[in-house]
Amino acid sequence: MAVPIIIDCDPGHDDALAILLAAGDPAVDLLAITTVAGNQTLAKTTLNARRVCTLAGIDAVPIAAGCDRPLLQPLVVAEDVHGESGLDGPRFPEPTVHTVTEHAVDLIHRVLNDHPEPVTLVPTAPLTNIALLLTRYPQDAARIREIVLMGGSTTRGNRTPAAEFNIFVDPEAADLVFRSGVPVTMCGLNVTHQALATPDVLARLEGLDTELAQVCVQMLTSYASAYRRLWGFSHPPVHDPVAVARVIDPGIVRCTRANVSVELRGQYTRGATVVDIHRYLDRPLNAQVALELDTERFWDRLVGAVRALGSARG
Ligand code: RIB
Ligand code: CA
Repeated sequence: MAVPIIIDCDPGHDDALAILLAAGDPAVDLLAITTVAGNQTLAKTTLNARRVCTLAGIDAVPIAAGCDRPLLQPLVVAEDVHGESGLDGPRFPEPTVHTVTEHAVDLIHRVLNDHPEPVTLVPTAPLTNIALLLTRYPQDAARIREIVLMGGSTTRGNRTPAAEFNIFVDPEAADLVFRSGVPVTMCGLNVTHQALATPDVLARLEGLDTELAQVCVQMLTSYASAYRRLWGFSHPPVHDPVAVARVIDPGIVRCTRANVSVELRGQYTRGATVVDIHRYLDRPLNAQVALELDTERFWDRLVGAVRALGSARG
């Protein structure tokens, strides 16, 4: 039985791949896509979600735009990584897939309460929309099966020495989500840095010989140049699809239970996820923390999803 999910994202190259994985893999049922400011402004992340869905023929999944800034602090975008458009590299046709008029938080609320069973939320961006949902509709917590998010890290950050970007952009939102009592699985940089788009992966995508696969290669090529320039990576880590893969096949991502706390006050550490793997502190075990990725099964799923969507487009 396919697991019902909602993706909350900020496309973003890796968010785009997360959308494709969710839409193309039969193990999950993508009920809705919501967007938030993060990698780029809300207008750009929303346009990019529409572009990806138009290209892939994902035209029956409602898309709603959400918050255009974090709860408290000004928006910080990742133009250095994702470019001025937020999805630099490919040239996309004018999108024919449009957004619904509802705010993202209201769309999530509606889907959670209309769906016959609890739904898994898969945030791959700053957690502003999710925090606002839990604040505006606290009763919806009972309709959420689990929150499987890409964000944080058991080790170091990628926006400051301590903070990963999604948590760094809106630490208050992340703190609210981790303290909400809703089951959370955290797929942080420590595990997503295992999901490297190597030349073998690019060759597998090229071999699909579809327009969609070609665009994926163009996206990954642009994304790879940013990771090489900024951090000296030989191959770029595709963070966001790891969270989707965890829902598709939990065995792909090995996790351990731990307390995760979000640092809000540290002068140099604000936005850090403090993961108490060895249980030094007597704090609640509020999260499953991803540690290890089965990279072969992960890439098989991602390439398989692109193949399925590409052939559906003909
Ligand atoms: O730190 C990586 C995360 O920040 C990913 O979700 C990427 O898309 C950016 O949003
Ligand atoms: Ca993202």
